[in-house]
Amino acid sequence: MKPSIIVSRPIYPEVIERLRTHFDVTAHQTDPEWTPQTWTQALSQHDGALTMGIEPVNDTVLAACKRLRICANLSVGYNNFDVPAMTRQGVLATNAPDVLTETTADFGFALLMAAARRVTEAERYIRAGQWQKWTLDMLPGMAVHGSTLGIIGMGRIGQAIAKRAAAFDMDISYHTRSQRADVAYKYVANLVDLASQVDYLVAITPGGAGTKNLINAEVLKALGPQGFLVNVARGSVVDQTALIEALQKKTIAGAGLDVFVDEPNVPAELRKLDNVVLTPHIASGTVETRKAMSALALANLAAHFAGEPVKTPVPECRT
Ligand code: DGY
Repeated sequence: MKPSIIVSRPIYPEVIERLRTHFDVTAHQTDPEWTPQTWTQALSQHDGALTMGIEPVNDTVLAACKRLRICANLSVGYNNFDVPAMTRQGVLATNAPDVLTETTADFGFALLMAAARRVTEAERYIRAGQWQKWTLDMLPGMAVHGSTLGIIGMGRIGQAIAKRAAAFDMDISYHTRSQRADVAYKYVANLVDLASQVDYLVAITPGGAGTKNLINAEVLKALGPQGFLVNVARGSVVDQTALIEALQKKTIAGAGLDVFVDEPNVPAELRKLDNVVLTPHIASGTVETRKAMSALALANLAAHFAGEPVKTPVPECRT
C-alpha cells in the first residue's frame, strides 16, 4: 500500500500527478477554508503532508495525528510548525530553502524601490486622472543608489538582497543575533542603532516567537522620517500597530510590506495610506520558483518514505 499524503491547498496539477506515482494523494485543489478542527481532522487521516507554510502543526493538532510521519512545507519559512512538538511525536519537518532565494531577493528589492520611488502611488495618481500637467515637484521620491541599507537577517535571502544592493552602490550593514564570520558587511549588534544609521531597513529574518515584534516603536523611531521599512520576512516580526502609527504620523517615510500579522487580513488603516506599498505575500511568486518549491517538498516526501535522508530537513531536525 502506498503511503497516504494530504496536499493542504491547490498546487500545480503536474505536482499532484507526480505525487500520485509515490503516494495515495488527497489533494485539496479547491481552496479549503480550513478551521483548526477541519485541518486537524484531515491531517489525522494521513502519513504525510505537503503543507504551504500556513497550516499549524502543533501539540493540539498532533494529538489527533498518530499516523503522521512527515510534514513537508513548500515554503522556506516554517513558523507554522512547532518543531519540538513534532520531534517529540516522531514527525519530521522539512522546508524549501535555496530554491526561492534569488526570486525572493528580487522582490524584496522591488518593494524597496517601489516604496522609495513611489511607484504604486504614482500609478494610482495616473489611474485616478490626477495627472494634468508635468511639474518638477510631482511625486518626489528618495534615491536608492548610494544610500544606506540595513538588513535584519543575513541568511541566504539577506545575502542575495545585499548582492543587489551592492550593485546600487548602497552602503550595507546588518543585524542578526550574532555576527556571521562568513559575511564582510558591517555588523550592528543593536537593532535600534542599525535603524538610526540607515535609509532603508529590510527585514528577512525567520518568524516565530524569537523575532515577534522585533521591529517595534523604538526601532521605527530610530529609522526616522527619511527612513523606509521593507518586510519580506513575516508579519509577526513587526509591531504592526506601531508601524501604522509611524506611517500615519510620517515618523518614517514609508514602507513596502509583503507580509502581515493576520494574513490575509490587512488592516483598513494600512490600506488607506499612500506611503506604503502592499503586496499579498508573493515574494517567492514566480511560476519557476513555485514549481521548484513544490518539487523540493515532493522530493522530501518521496525520500522519507523510501527510507532515505530527506533533502532539506528544517535546521532543528538536522543530525
Ligand atoms: C516562504 O517560503 O517562507 C515564503 O514566505 C513563501 O511562503
